[in-house]
This record gives sequence, C-alpha cells and structure tokens, in this order.
Amino acid sequence: MVNRTEVDLAGARYFPSFLDRTQQVELVQLLRDIVRAAPLTHYRTAGAKKMSVAMTSAGKFGWLSDDKGYRYADTHPSGVAWPDIPSPLSEIWKELAPNARLPDSCLINFYGPEAKMGLHKDDTEQDFDQPVVSVSLGDEGLFRIGGQVRGGKTQSIWLRSGDVVVLTGASRLSYHGVDRIKAGSSSLLEKPGRINVTLRVAK
Ligand code: SIN
Ligand code: FE2
Repeated sequence: MVNRTEVDLAGARYFPSFLDRTQQVELVQLLRDIVRAAPLTHYRTAGAKKMSVAMTSAGKFGWLSDDKGYRYADTHPSGVAWPDIPSPLSEIWKELAPNARLPDSCLINFYGPEAKMGLHKDDTEQDFDQPVVSVSLGDEGLFRIGGQVRGGKTQSIWLRSGDVVVLTGASRLSYHGVDRIKAGSSSLLEKPGRINVTLRVAK
C-alpha cells in the first residue's frame, strides 16, 4: 500500500513505504536496463581503497571516484553515455521536491550482503539548495545520519524497500552512511542485497 506519512529523521524528510511493491518491481526492471548499458563498478576512493558498494549512474552526469577524485563525469568509465533517468524516478522527485530544479544525475548504489558506506556528506554538487532524494529497494540497510559536523550525535534507522528519504534544508549537508545490510530481509531482488538510488542536481 502506498503511504504518504512523513517522519522527521534528524532534519531529513523520511517517507516510509513511499513506493508500493508494483512500483518497486517496475523500478528494478528499469535499473537492470541501466546496469546493462552502464555496468556497476567498484570505484576506488581517494585513498585508493576499493569501495564495497558497486555503483553506476543515469542522467546527464554520473558521480564517480577515480584518481582525479570524487566528481561528476559526462560518461561512464567505459566511455558510454549515462542512460536517461527513468521517468518513475523523475516523478518521485517532482512530487517531493516540486520547487527544485530537475535532477541531472541519478546515482545507483548496489550493496551486497557485506557492503557498507562510511559516514560522508554529499558535497560534490554545485548548488546545495537543491535536495537529494534517496530511494531504497531490496534488503534493509542500517542508515545512519548525523549533523553537519563529523563526530556529532547520529541516529540510525533500518531503511526498507520502498522507503524514500529527502536530504533538504539543514540536512542537505548532514553526514550519513550505511552501517550494514540485512541480507535476505526482502524478496524484491533476485539475489541478496540492497539498491539505493539517489537523485541529485549535480551542476
Ligand atoms: C549514499 O549516501 O549515496 C547512499 C545512502 C544509502 O544507501 O541509503
Ligand atoms: Fe550520500
């Protein structure tokens, strides 16, 4: 069932069960097409460490990390253009951020059972007045969010398939990360793991 309940999550807007199962299945199908054209990649961080999360992107720009640092690139590392942002994702953005510019980038993260993402803030974008809209699919992920300074108090929540979080206002530059995945907690994906999609205005 579709739910429009909104919960405050350390200043972020949290929408549990925003997408119903049919919408989730449709999105996974569309994401599969993207991954076929622009394969998931384990990028290396600035410290040359391989990230446990596999990533790709859709949209005009794609976020990546390589020896030039964290940045938005015009093409996938293979040289192919990033696929278009699927329209159901643009619709979510328009519903939750009607006054924002349209997203020009969509980062697709795949977390296997052992993957995690350390605390970071999304600050590679040019305009922090534009929100980040995050959609979770598949297995539950333990999402942690704090404030704008590293080392402060944080709050943790299990994000479930179909949940949406909007980082906006003061939370736009809040530290956040994913501590662990509860493998097998959802039957949405063919194999254990979690997908997180974030829509952004990069430039
Ligand atoms: C991210 O910060 O890029 C991903 C957050 C999440 O997986 O929920
Ligand atoms: Fe992030």
